[in-house]
Amino acid sequence: MSIKTISTQPFTDQKPGTSGLRKQVRAFQQPHYLENFIQSIFDSLEDFQGKTLVLGGDGRYYNRQAIQTILKIAAANGVGRTLVGQGGILSTPAASCVIRKNNAFGGIVLSASHNPGGPEGDFGVKYNVSNGGPAPEKVTSAIFDRSKTIDRYKILEAADLNLDQLGSFKLGDMSVEVINSVSDYAELMESLFDFNVIRDYLTSGQFRMCMDSLHAVTGPYAKELFETRLGATAGTVQNGVPLEDFGGGHPDPNLVYAHDLVEILYGDNGPDFGAASDGDGDRNMILGNHFFVTPSDSLAVLAANATLVPGYKDGLAGIARSMPTSEAPDRVAEKLGIDCYETPTGWKFFGNLLDAGKATLCGEESFGTGSNHVREKDGLWAVLFWLNILAVKKQSVEEIVREHWQTYGRNYYSRHDYEGVDTEPANTLMKNLRSLVSTLQGKQYGNYEVKYADDFSYTDPIDGSVATKQGIRIGFTDGSRIVFRLSGTGTQGATLRVYLERYEPDSKAHHQDPQEALAPLIQLADEIAQIRSLTGRDKPTVIT
Ligand code: G6P
Ligand code: ZN
Repeated sequence: MSIKTISTQPFTDQKPGTSGLRKQVRAFQQPHYLENFIQSIFDSLEDFQGKTLVLGGDGRYYNRQAIQTILKIAAANGVGRTLVGQGGILSTPAASCVIRKNNAFGGIVLSASHNPGGPEGDFGVKYNVSNGGPAPEKVTSAIFDRSKTIDRYKILEAADLNLDQLGSFKLGDMSVEVINSVSDYAELMESLFDFNVIRDYLTSGQFRMCMDSLHAVTGPYAKELFETRLGATAGTVQNGVPLEDFGGGHPDPNLVYAHDLVEILYGDNGPDFGAASDGDGDRNMILGNHFFVTPSDSLAVLAANATLVPGYKDGLAGIARSMPTSEAPDRVAEKLGIDCYETPTGWKFFGNLLDAGKATLCGEESFGTGSNHVREKDGLWAVLFWLNILAVKKQSVEEIVREHWQTYGRNYYSRHDYEGVDTEPANTLMKNLRSLVSTLQGKQYGNYEVKYADDFSYTDPIDGSVATKQGIRIGFTDGSRIVFRLSGTGTQGATLRVYLERYEPDSKAHHQDPQEALAPLIQLADEIAQIRSLTGRDKPTVIT
């Protein structure tokens, strides 16, 4: 086996976005495209020779080929040992867990998360650092800088390894360990949650759940946890076999894309609890019988009930939420007398707060919830957290959430997405808003008076790094908010996200449909941003 140095030319579009380098599969299939990016990762790192790397992905199309290539580049660059999930499978939170447990210098996770897969779908490469979390900005920009000047990569000439077989192999001087994709993660879950209480509840005959893995990575994890270890009936996990194209579906756990699950929970004689997760297993959606829990409320409920769960019984150090996430968690933090941090969109911004012990629970409106147990959001962790609370309280999901609103007030919340908009009008819309914000304070729109308006910027309290232009926030004197930002995860055109929130303290007014409760704000958002005239769309493509 010999190490080859291959000359190459830079690609100009290898800038990692909100969550790694995400492109259409076709882009990754261009000669040298993947190789350049992986070599750029190694070239921008120091001090990894002889150390451990973690490698795995969500099993989507191109996962297997990419892993073989990455192994050979890692071996040629002097990595000491690579831990690979069996069959190339590691969910994003499991990868984070394995990095931490094995003191790896980092990990490469292959996924385009909730984006569709298959030859016509998307693929992605994320680099995670030694704390198990997504690489911070300074690391991703160093990778991008290197990708712009790269002129060679190193690769070992060797046969492909059989990744379906557990065990240790040699690839040049590097050892490769094919590990069970599930067991480290399942063990961590057992250390956090009361599996006995959950098992008793799941086998009591009084409570039924349904988990939809959407043919994505969580299938084997969910079967092991819910069916094998917790005794839920066989078939509790549906769509549990990971497929390269996710069965043609869109592996995004929301009311639109997880419609099979929604029909089951809203149908006759449906189960008490339903959950789904995304392509790489870091997102979650929580449903009760005929009841949807918004991700923002979910974070707030988990925080309010955390001491019922063994792993969090001593209470929380703090909570962190992304800026567009509703302020429901802030109200819980206030009552608990702990800090609530507001960060830009993107899980990487929670890393420092978690490492410094300032936050215990984190969450985002984009169906992400997690804690300091790993450094990624964690779909099945959230499901287990809910299960633990349900098993202790023996109330329905709806009762728990309604009681929560009674105590804290309700933050009506909705996100309107305009997907696949042309880039130019989308940029114009944001540019117009940016020049408008400084003039909005004190302005009256019907009953709404603008309290503040800005383009969100964040100074990390731990390392002082600053992130600017993170989205337009318009806050009103009654606690309502409208937020506008462009998605950082799409691969075609632009996606405009409009986040709408209204605070309602009066429990007699907690029964409205969010779209109705938010109707005046929805109209106002259009008036301020000129969404319809600029995008040519008369309604959003997805409402969650
Ligand atoms: C990924 C990240 C999340 C982030 C989300 C935002 O899922 O892991 O941390 O909240 O993207 O996506 P967007 O499309 O709104 O930029
Ligand atoms: Zn994901």
